[in-house]
Amino acid sequence: MSLARDRPPEHGKTGGRKDGRGGQIRTDDILLPKQALYQAELRPGPGREALRRHPLWQAGIPGSGGSPLATLAPVPLVGHSPAVAYLEIRDLHTHFSKRSGGLLGGETRTIRAVDGVSIDVRKGEILGLVGESGCGKSTLSRTIMQLLRPTSGTIRLDGTELTRLPSDAVRRRRLDFQMVFQDPYASLNPRMTVFATLAEAIRQRHPKVAKDELTRRVNELMETVGLNPSQQRKYPHEFSGGQRQRIAIARALAPEPKLVIADEPVSALDVSIQSQILNLLKKLRAELGLTMIFISHDLGVVRYLADRILVMYRGKIVEEGEAEQLFDSPQNDYTRRLIASIPKLVGQPQP
Ligand SMILES: Nc1ncnc2c1ncn2[C@@H]1O[C@H](COP(=O)(O)OP(=O)(O)O)[C@@H](O)[C@H]1O
Ligand SMILES: [Mg+2]
Repeated sequence: MSLARDRPPEHGKTGGRKDGRGGQIRTDDILLPKQALYQAELRPGPGREALRRHPLWQAGIPGSGGSPLATLAPVPLVGHSPAVAYLEIRDLHTHFSKRSGGLLGGETRTIRAVDGVSIDVRKGEILGLVGESGCGKSTLSRTIMQLLRPTSGTIRLDGTELTRLPSDAVRRRRLDFQMVFQDPYASLNPRMTVFATLAEAIRQRHPKVAKDELTRRVNELMETVGLNPSQQRKYPHEFSGGQRQRIAIARALAPEPKLVIADEPVSALDVSIQSQILNLLKKLRAELGLTMIFISHDLGVVRYLADRILVMYRGKIVEEGEAEQLFDSPQNDYTRRLIASIPKLVGQPQP
C-alpha cells in the first residue's frame, strides 16, 4: 500500500496522482501545474509590499537560492469546482460559561469563543485562519475535531453531519481529522520512538496491518516528510525542533485523514525552519491532495501557504477571500490592521 495511491475505498478520493509525464499533479478534484508550486510570482501591489517586511518572506528558501517572494506564491486551485464543499460548517457556536466571584453567589459569564461561524472548506485546498490570540481559533478547531461539542450549529464532513453522531461514532470519525500543534515536543510521547509513534497511528486506521507492511509504511511516511527512515528508533528529544514537527506531521498523516488542522504549527520555530515546514506542507498538499485548515496569528505566515484566508475576530469570521485578493484589497478594518502590523507581530522594528 502506498500513502497516496492505495487508500481504502471508503476513504477513497484524497490520493494524489502523478500523470507520468511530469507536467502536472493530478488529484481527484484538483489539477495543479507542478512548476506553479515553486515558480509563481506575486503580483506587485500593496499586499506584496507588506510581505516584503515579513522575515519569513525575506528569508528565502534554503537550497533554492531564491526568495519566496519570487518563487513560492500560494498555488491557485485550477479546475476545481468551488461549489463542492468538503467540510461545511454552519452557524457554529461554542460557548463557555465562566463563573466570576466566589464559590457562592458569583456571576456566570458566557464566553462566546466561537460565535456564529460558517465555513466551507473545499477538497484539496489549504484554508488559512488568522486572528489575534484569544479570538477563538483553537476553540474552533477543537470543535471541528469534535473534542468540544458545539453549543449549536452544524459540521458536515463529506456529507456526514458530525454534531449529531453518538460518541462512539464520533471517536471513529475523529480519525478523519488529524491535528498538528504548535509544540511538537508536548504533543509527541517522549517515551515512544518515531517507529512506535507512527506504528500506533497507522494501526488506528489499520488495526490488523502485518508487521512488514507496517515497517514499509513507517519508512514511507518518514520519507514523505523528509526524515531519514534510518532514524526511526530514535526518541523525540534526539531530534531538532523542525524535525520533531516533521514527526508530528507524519503522525498526523499516518491514519490517512481527510482533513488536517494545523494550529500554529510553525509559531515556535525559527524563521528558516518555518519556511522548510511550510514548504513541506505545500508539497504534501500537491502530492497527497491534502485538505488543510492552517491556523496562525501571523497573517504573513498564513499568506505563505493558504489558497483562501478567513480572518477571525472575537469569535466571528469578519473577512474571507482568496489569499492574494484579501491581501491586496482588504475590506475589513481589522484585516487592514493585521496587514499593517505584520512586522510588529513578528517582533521587527517598524520601518
Ligand atoms: N476550556 C475553556 N474554558 C473557558 N474559556 C475558554 C476555554 N478555552 C478557551 N477559552 C476562551 O475562549 C476564547 C478563545 O480562546 P482560543 O480558542 O484559545 O483562542 P485562540 O486560539 O485564537 O488564541 C478565549 O477568551 C479563551 O480564554
Ligand atoms: Mg490557539
